Amino acid sequence: MTIQEELNATIRELVQAGKGILAADESHPTIAKRFKAVGVESSEENRREYRSLMLNTQELGDYISGVILFEETLGQKSDDGKPLPSVSASNGVIPGIKVDKGKGPMVNAPGDEITEGLDGLAQRLEQYKTLGARFAKWRNVYHITDNNPGIAAIEANAEVLARYAAICQSCGIVPIVEPEVLIDGSHTIERSADVNEAVISEVFRALRRHRVELETMILKPSMVTPGNANGKKASPEEVAEHTLRVFRRVVPAAVPGINFLSGGQTPEEATLNLNAINSGASQPWVLSFSYGRALQEPAQKAWAGISSNKSAAQAALLKRAKLNSLATLGRYSTDMEG
Ligand code: 13P
Repeated sequence: MTIQEELNATIRELVQAGKGILAADESHPTIAKRFKAVGVESSEENRREYRSLMLNTQELGDYISGVILFEETLGQKSDDGKPLPSVSASNGVIPGIKVDKGKGPMVNAPGDEITEGLDGLAQRLEQYKTLGARFAKWRNVYHITDNNPGIAAIEANAEVLARYAAICQSCGIVPIVEPEVLIDGSHTIERSADVNEAVISEVFRALRRHRVELETMILKPSMVTPGNANGKKASPEEVAEHTLRVFRRVVPAAVPGINFLSGGQTPEEATLNLNAINSGASQPWVLSFSYGRALQEPAQKAWAGISSNKSAAQAALLKRAKLNSLATLGRYSTDMEG
């Protein structure tokens, strides 16, 4: 297959009506935090057991088209000795890989951060490809305060995101472009809308500058919500209205899929909001999910590091995958939570 054929085939399989993406690419510090919440030590073996359990979930491929893995997982094996990326692929779930090297403070931009990891990226991608990865993810973060994000951070982050995406496509890897506007803070939903609009429009300007092919990428944004310390919650209808208004303004129709992150929403909130987003008029893109916490939290609780809880954990994961799949079709209701 040519590079272009690879990109076309991967995007076709990733962006399908009724399917979303599982984000299971937590870095070591993040997975340690998630495991600690359920009383599990973050050892290499525990991480392997847990992620292997998820990827071995029967029928996961009915609702999930791709899974984002952390580098360590790409090289790990299931109990039967099969590499985890192959386990996933044979379950109908395309393996992908988080390739950024994390974020840190941006110099001369107080309160803003920048994501690193471009050096040697093409070489790393070639190696990830031999291990089975067909798509990648890179996450930028933007804090909302009265002064953040600043224009320098908005521009610099857009530039690295676009360079990452261009490099991915040159290697036949579909890029997931993730500009995460954080939920932390007391800001209003209007302020979140404003920041998302500024951030995402700059990202698309940079993508164009770097000649990224919009048809073979996925956007992974935050939903537009009030800050988590705002006190006033927005209804799913308000979230849907603000979110769609922003995306209709700044995301070209050539982009096939927008897969939201959950960003600290509870599993039920994330499903309910996604359902509201998909309940109105049809939009130019498939509007789906690429959740980490909102898909995994119930599964982690059910597992709690105990091998005999495997089936219960898989059932919990499958339940959230199925409910979110219904939400992408606007067919979810809270009574399905049972
Ligand atoms: P959350 O859904 O937990 O926000 O994770 C998605 C993700 O991949 C963040 O980079």
